[in-house]
Amino acid sequence: MAHDVIIVGSGAAGLTAALALADKLRVLVLAKGELTGGSTAWAQGGIAAVLDAGDTFENHIRDTMIAGAGLNRLETVEFVIERAPHAIDRLVELGVPFNTEGEHLHLTREGGHSHRRIVHVADATGWAVQSALLKAAEAHPNITLLPHQSGIDLITGKHEERYSGSGRVWGVYALNEQTGKVEAHTARATVLATGGAGRVYQFSTAPRGATGDGIAMAWRAGCRVGNMEMMQFHPTCLYNLEVKNFLITEAVRGEGGRLINPRTGHRYMPDYDERAELAPRDIVARANDAEIKRDGLDFVHLDISHQPPEFVREHFPNIYEKLLGLGIDMTTQPIPVVPAQHYTCGGIVIDLAGRTDLPGLYAAGECTESGLHGANRLASNSLLECFVFGEAAAANILEHWEEFDAPPPIRAWDESRVTNSDEEVVIKQNWTEIRRFMWNYVGIVRTTKRLERARHRIKMLTDEISEYYAHFRVSTDLIELRNLLQCADLIVRSALARHESRGLHYTLDYPGTLAEAKDTVLVP
Ligand code: FAD
Ligand code: SIN
Repeated sequence: MAHDVIIVGSGAAGLTAALALADKLRVLVLAKGELTGGSTAWAQGGIAAVLDAGDTFENHIRDTMIAGAGLNRLETVEFVIERAPHAIDRLVELGVPFNTEGEHLHLTREGGHSHRRIVHVADATGWAVQSALLKAAEAHPNITLLPHQSGIDLITGKHEERYSGSGRVWGVYALNEQTGKVEAHTARATVLATGGAGRVYQFSTAPRGATGDGIAMAWRAGCRVGNMEMMQFHPTCLYNLEVKNFLITEAVRGEGGRLINPRTGHRYMPDYDERAELAPRDIVARANDAEIKRDGLDFVHLDISHQPPEFVREHFPNIYEKLLGLGIDMTTQPIPVVPAQHYTCGGIVIDLAGRTDLPGLYAAGECTESGLHGANRLASNSLLECFVFGEAAAANILEHWEEFDAPPPIRAWDESRVTNSDEEVVIKQNWTEIRRFMWNYVGIVRTTKRLERARHRIKMLTDEISEYYAHFRVSTDLIELRNLLQCADLIVRSALARHESRGLHYTLDYPGTLAEAKDTVLVP
């Protein structure tokens, strides 16, 4: 069946766009691996929205701008926050069983928020949202869901049978992970909703597939990317030698959890910030990092055992069970935690309609730089961004539908000059190497010297991986490795270009903040 719109990604952004388009257009949704493989399914804390009588849009806007260290675009912040209550209504209509308190939705609290404003489904909000969106998409006759498709590159004018060289996007070449064949999926409009690039770091809360594919594809096709140096580290990822990326939601601190230095027993966050454990994430992550490095610790403690056991079990049933399985009873014991990469604030530059720089190409969700997060994302604003921009992109496509041409004939994927790889070890080695030097050289605290070291490693790996890519048949691992390296390069170049410390970008060589907040925008 021919499709009108292709959406790459089946998380909150992709499925929101699909559902908003499907009453009028035929939509194809592609996903790498399983349909539930993105970060959406893993979200814990919830979704921020002004729903409390004492709260206002102005408060939420101010909190977002403060967390973002003034780099946010006010126009975007207002656009998203004013649409949040509608987004929550829509999710309730779709059947998301948010926790309630009497007649109202229960609101929890997270760092950087001046009010309780996080709606949630216990401590597994993402799974509930992903399931509801997927159920609605599966039931819609105009939506085709195609898992196990690894998008490789966008199809543009240079892939037309009659080469036009234009930047017009006509869809995506994707590897069918089950047949091993590369297929050209074409449509009048394409939406990238491929999530973040967290796996560029050795320690990350993000799922395995968060390799920045959409950002890298868009960059290669000619889109600008913005603020890629703004990588968010979550302060409290479980420290466990077996389970490496289990998040302990910020809502644990929102409900009273305290950070303790395990060597001294001291509750240290009040020494770093008057908001203590509820300071914005960049501040808490840096404080944890500083305590760990200063005292040579493996982890710090997050302790909520002073709250009644029933309260803890009721608010955090999944975390409680998971930890119990690992021998930690959080109702009586502290939880060992470390900071880990968590969210990609930068990405493909989009406008308020989700449009990228290329005609026919839209983007939404974590793969974008919409102006909402600035230099640091406020907790629970990212699912919200997915809903608002998924709808905005769909609305713009519908509004301009008559202007979208049908795709011309496109060249098939050329495999005539490649063979099967005889050295898979190269992929594994390089993947590990990138993630390790990004963690050590481009982490929470940076220096120009370390960034230069990372840049040097990236240059060497670029030659090696380009050569490998040119000679061997693509696999999902190879596609991801190429994109990880591309994203590492964008992050390091952006970090080197920012001569100040602001929000998530903290460098010992430029500790001060400049008077004017400016985006780092890279142009291909
Ligand atoms: P994702 O949900 O990541 O989906 C990406 C999709 O793109 C997937 O379907 C994937 O298969 C597909 N894809 C990727 N590459 C390709 C490719 N090459 N070809 C084809 N398909 C591809 N945010 C909040 O607001 N509140 C929270 O409580 C919260 N908790 C979080 C907890 C954890 C552990 C993590 C990791 C993140 C959390 N976040 C939270 C962030 C939030 O979950 C994400 O920012 C958001 O879900 C991103 O949604 P998305 O639709 O942009 O992408
Ligand atoms: C969390 O639950 O701590 C994550 C919330 C978020 O990333 O917004």
